[in-house]
Amino acid sequence: MSADLRCQLGRLSLKNPVMPASGCFDWYPEHDGPFHPDELGAVVLKSTTLQPRDGNIPIRLAETPSGMLNAIGIPSYGLEGFRTILREKWSRLKTPVIASISAFTPEEYAILARELGKEPTVAALEINLSCPNLEHGVIPAQDPVLLRECVEAVREATEAMIIAKLSPNVTDIVEMASISESAGADAICLINSIRGMEIDIWKKKPILGRGTGGLSGPAIKPIALAMVYEVCGAVKVPVIGVGGISRAEDAIAFLLAGASAVQVGTISFRDPLAMRKIITGIREYLDSEGYTSVTDIIGLARTDT
Ligand SMILES: Cc1cc2nc3c(=O)[nH]c(=O)nc-3n(C[C@H](O)[C@H](O)[C@H](O)COP(=O)(O)O)c2cc1C
Repeated sequence: MSADLRCQLGRLSLKNPVMPASGCFDWYPEHDGPFHPDELGAVVLKSTTLQPRDGNIPIRLAETPSGMLNAIGIPSYGLEGFRTILREKWSRLKTPVIASISAFTPEEYAILARELGKEPTVAALEINLSCPNLEHGVIPAQDPVLLRECVEAVREATEAMIIAKLSPNVTDIVEMASISESAGADAICLINSIRGMEIDIWKKKPILGRGTGGLSGPAIKPIALAMVYEVCGAVKVPVIGVGGISRAEDAIAFLLAGASAVQVGTISFRDPLAMRKIITGIREYLDSEGYTSVTDIIGLARTDT
């Protein structure tokens, strides 16, 4: 018999530990595509803001060696528009749906959490504390005081499961994870993209319209893995590993480091079936290594247990 991929992420029961990273997956039910999101452990939606937003000026995406730069800037339908899409489209899924919220103040985070936490379709809320390319303001995940205020505001606003998504663009990721945990996060997700830039040497200006953006994809995997490893050793809440996961082997490394689940982002732009291949590859690894459940390998590579 094949290994059991079911796992637990806090109070969420997942059929497997693989989900898309926010902003890297969509689904068009009217097109009968080759991949149905119910194959996934959960679906994480693109971050939504309170008010509608257009996002950044183009160019918003640039390919780099082993990765991609983006400065999308959270285009959003706003709360009301998002709620409509949630009810009309995402409510059709059987797999858990995780909504991602992005905001400019703790008060805005609280409104989004209160409103979306009430939606029956929303199984959990991911708090995007880390978008590195908004045009103004401090990034909460980089400021210990603001981070605490934002997570506490969300915690007070909802009883829904909340996941704090952190930025790698900090000196001490463990400090930020510990603050999130003590402020009431039920899980931690890391990492968001890493600040980066590319320059068009012929036009003699940055490629991205905003100048800098966030680097994602295979190039960032070792950085993400080290941070996930460190955070898993420091917090009690479950950790979701994300950053450069492109193959089953990458996902397995994050589970061995202690992550309870993984998210897959940039590779889906190149291969829309990547997540299915990663799920299949995890099962094949477990079978060949003689494990009966994916939970058997979580944290196995840790030297501190
Ligand atoms: C095009 C694009 C859009 C993204 N949008 C969001 C977003 O809306 N909210 C968020 O929390 N992260 C967003 N991210 C970050 C990803 O969720 C993920 O944390 C990051 O890309 C690292 O994973 P990867 O290397 O597998 O892509 C975005 C990334 C990309 C490439």
